[in-house]
Amino acid sequence: MQKTRIKLNFTIPLWLAVIFAFFLLFDDFASPINIVSQQTGNARQKDIQVPPPPLTEGIFPCSECHAEMETNPEPRELVDFHDDIEFTHDEKNRWCLDCHDADNRDMLHSAGGEPIDFKESYKLCGQCHGPKLRDWRAGIHGRRTGNWNGQKQYLLCAHCHDPHSPKYKSMKPEPPPKKPGNTK
Ligand code: HEC
Ligand code: HEC
Ligand code: HEC
Ligand code: HEC
Repeated sequence: MQKTRIKLNFTIPLWLAVIFAFFLLFDDFASPINIVSQQTGNARQKDIQVPPPPLTEGIFPCSECHAEMETNPEPRELVDFHDDIEFTHDEKNRWCLDCHDADNRDMLHSAGGEPIDFKESYKLCGQCHGPKLRDWRAGIHGRRTGNWNGQKQYLLCAHCHDPHSPKYKSMKPEPPPKKPGNTK
């Protein structure tokens, strides 16, 4: 009699411990809070949706002309083509091939030389304009729409700023309204 009582006393806590351990292990995967934190943890990059880059119709793929052409790395005024590009973006220190890839003209490249797709040109801008990129991601700079914990639509920096001449031109203010002639 004494024997069975002791046995019972041990088996119940043992089972409780097993059940508790089970929950410790598997609750982690089942809890909705955890699913959300996993999504926001690793999905920031793929959550960024952008409309197509605002390239002039017919200009892309660049390789249509450039695959056949010798790259001329000499900073110069372009005359045979692209003479419509006004380049005023730290132009004293830089030139086209600091952003455009010399070997694959269909890609941009980072300062470190890694290729960057035109669809992800914000990565290029963010290398020098870090705080702006951070604000852009957070939806403070530029324009962001979508879900707080899921896919978000962004406009690329290039949708608003010309990468070659990015400064917003100051606008000429409209004249003040005219006073109608017959009122006093
Ligand atoms: C600061 C980086 C940067 C520099 C420097 C730069 N570009 Fe670009 N360029 C870009 C980006 C980013 C785009 C993509 C814009 C877009 O998405 O529409 C672009 C777009 C272009 C296009 C396509 C334009 C169009 O009409 O759609 C051409 C052509 C071009 N660049 C040539 C040049 C030439 C030539 C130079 C040098 C005079 C130059 N770029 C300098 C970043 C740069
Ligand atoms: C219709 C043909 C054509 C297309 C398409 C074209 N380019 Fe060019 N590109 C040229 C020519 C021609 C030159 C040389 C101009 C000069 O030397 O005056 C040139 C020069 C350049 C240069 C200066 C460096 C070099 O190799 O001479 C850059 C940078 C450049 N192009 C970028 C681009 C980018 C980026 C695109 C696509 C968005 C593009 N180009 C599309 C014809 C083209
Ligand atoms: C290699 C560094 C570098 C990269 C990459 C770069 N910028 Fe800049 N940017 C500068 C510097 C330096 C200036 C200030 C000098 C100037 O205005 O010429 C500047 C100026 C600007 C300005 C004007 C700020 C003002 O009001 O005077 C804007 C807007 C801008 N960049 C946007 C962009 C965008 C958009 C991209 C990506 C297409 C980009 N930048 C890529 C270095 C960079
Ligand atoms: C929806 C349009 C839009 C988008 C997208 C956008 N910008 Fe701007 N940006 C503006 C406007 C408008 C200004 C303000 C110009 C002013 O006040 O003179 C500005 C100003 C700037 C300035 C200069 C402002 C300052 O503080 O002096 C920089 C640099 C800049 N943007 C970089 C970027 C970069 C980098 C991106 C992408 C990561 C980006 N912008 C995306 C519209 C935009």
